[in-house]
Amino acid sequence: MNNRPLLVQALNREPLTRPPVWLMRQAGRYQASYRAIKSRHSFLEICRSADIAYEVSMLPVTEFDMDAAIVFADILLPLEGLGVTIDFAPGPHIANPIKKPEDIENLVVSEYDAYSIVPKVISRLKDTLACGESPKAVLGFAGAPWTLACYLIEHGPYKGFQGVPVFAEQHPQAMQTLLDQLTTTTIGYLAAQIAGGADAVQIFDTWGGLLDEESYRRFSLPYITRVINAVQTTDTPVILYVNGSSHLLETMEESGAKCLSLDWRTDPSDALARLKSETVIQGNLDPVSLFAPPALRTQKVRSMLENFSARPGYIANLGHGILQETPESAVLDLINQVKSYSPDIACKPVVRL
Ligand code: CP3
Repeated sequence: MNNRPLLVQALNREPLTRPPVWLMRQAGRYQASYRAIKSRHSFLEICRSADIAYEVSMLPVTEFDMDAAIVFADILLPLEGLGVTIDFAPGPHIANPIKKPEDIENLVVSEYDAYSIVPKVISRLKDTLACGESPKAVLGFAGAPWTLACYLIEHGPYKGFQGVPVFAEQHPQAMQTLLDQLTTTTIGYLAAQIAGGADAVQIFDTWGGLLDEESYRRFSLPYITRVINAVQTTDTPVILYVNGSSHLLETMEESGAKCLSLDWRTDPSDALARLKSETVIQGNLDPVSLFAPPALRTQKVRSMLENFSARPGYIANLGHGILQETPESAVLDLINQVKSYSPDIACKPVVRL
């Protein structure tokens, strides 16, 4: 009997009877149970307590039976290890942003709690989820160096980060120093999560799609590739998500990531034609679909599954993080629909008597 999590089998492109499913940002404010915890603790308190972060990471698994738990944390937390002060209200706020190239020199590498808390939460999740008849995967994650630089440079309120590519062109040397530092930090952070037992890790390049291909090759791809080369082993594949990346699919593939997570605007047939067969695909339901009337929602989920499920390793997911106002009933329906999906049934013409 094969007793490894379905998601791990998918990442190894093993034949499966149905795709595994989990959702980006699956633990959070759309859940009544999370809101109840948030009424007692701030977001940072949750992230800084291994007990509460564990409890929150487990919510989507217990409530919706997701095929994976993703550790509850934030991409911006490791910046505290560079002497950056972060708060969430709930949007991120950085007290000491980079306003000029010289500020980059003031970043200091220091001990940071996330390095111990996040791996600890991952090990606890593994202890709970790795055994039993249907074990579940445990995922770690980090932000891409470019996306982290975006938050550091464009000191909120965040209005689309257009100033960041401008800063990068005006101060290429300083930008490289910053991206190098963020790469080192990210490698250490992900390596600790993998040592804690993560089955796979996802890199979020939420603002990578701001860049055209040439700029992406200068400011994002080389750093992501370094992270992947340092942490991706046969046992811990890397999933790469770049938001707004229809123009970057082949470039993303060059990073060496085992799996690409497609954003919701990426056309499925275009992606299938462009990506190499060994690249695993994850995604890409529009998060807004979960607000559609039930019949339309079901149709959208089915069309995602019909488009991708024949592809070895395919992982069902959204094309970006779940939205705060999403009805929990729609999430449950989505998960149930993926779990009961069978290509044979879906393809059979409806016979009317
Ligand atoms: O997926 C999960 O369940 C794990 C948790 C997770 C959070 N942030 C918790 C969170 C993950 C994977 C992230 C990643 C993250 N954080 C990204 C990349 C993913 C993406 O959506 O593109 C980015 C860009 C951030 C930065 C960030 N953190 C923003 C922009 C915000 C505010 C906007 C928002 O969604 O509220 C946060 C805060 C944050 N991170 C919250 C949560 C649950 C909300 C805080 C709260 O509950 O008060």
